[in-house]
Amino acid sequence: MPRLSRKVAIVTGAAGGIGSAIATAFAREGAALCLVDRDEAGLADRVARLGAERCCACAADISDPEDVARATATAVDRYGRLDILISNAGIEGRVLPVTEYPIEDFDRVMAVNVRGVFLTLREAMPAMQRRGGGSIVITSSIAGLRGFAGLSAYSASKHAVLGLMRCAALEGAPHGIRVNTIHPSPIETRMMRAIEEGAAPGAADAAKTGFAARIPAGRYGTPEEVAALALFLASDESGFCSGGAYSVDGAMSAG
Ligand SMILES: NC(=O)c1ccc[n+]([C@@H]2O[C@H](COP(=O)([O-])OP(=O)(O)OC[C@H]3O[C@@H](n4cnc5c(N)ncnc54)[C@H](O)[C@@H]3O)[C@@H](O)[C@H]2O)c1
Repeated sequence: MPRLSRKVAIVTGAAGGIGSAIATAFAREGAALCLVDRDEAGLADRVARLGAERCCACAADISDPEDVARATATAVDRYGRLDILISNAGIEGRVLPVTEYPIEDFDRVMAVNVRGVFLTLREAMPAMQRRGGGSIVITSSIAGLRGFAGLSAYSASKHAVLGLMRCAALEGAPHGIRVNTIHPSPIETRMMRAIEEGAAPGAADAAKTGFAARIPAGRYGTPEEVAALALFLASDESGFCSGGAYSVDGAMSAG
């Protein structure tokens, strides 16, 4: 029996590394999918790969309330319900000390990573409540559990969604809506390439070696390893798990 049979899921950031791996894992486990991203070409590519019978796309900016409402309506109109929200879209911002961090970049990181997640919860929770419950997984980060020099906006935004998750979990529990965060360490995607280059311009490979050495497992994780955790939290197997912060980080947060 597929683990997500008869489930309808929205995945934001679905054109990116982790979102794409989550969409692939969910499709394999029988979910009907609505993929959301601001990258329209990337979305079209994912839908072509996963098959248009059980997968649709909605190009949207998650920091825009109208876009998020349209994306949620796309899923509900097409499949008649919403069971799962993977609120995963995010941006890394710049790699600079607090004292040099441009205010407009700080605001944009907060707009996408915090306001964007808030907007997706705000739209998805009523839709889930109408059908008697659901599961929401927010992609935070190890930077949502501890600080990293140079990543103030990103780290602040990823801490903030922990608070959002905890409030939404309390509010959702009476309605059968579970809400959890996942906290990956560095994962092999475009985002880490950008952070490596930002931390050491022209020496990204050396930066990567340094970052990997700070992970007790000795390597970055893969998008598929993150997707496996998201799949567990999205599925009914995790029926009593809500309000939790789940690490997938090669023991990085243990030390
Ligand atoms: N890669 C890592 O090491 C890592 C570690 C911890 C957490 N994360 C988090 O995982 C999530 C996915 O990151 P990724 O590594 O797959 O990066 P990625 O850059 O490959 O994917 C992010 C996706 O989000 C989309 N996106 C960005 N802003 C958007 C917006 N305003 N509206 C709609 N879509 C938007 C991008 O187009 C992209 O497809 C992010 O929230 C990120 O912060 C990543």
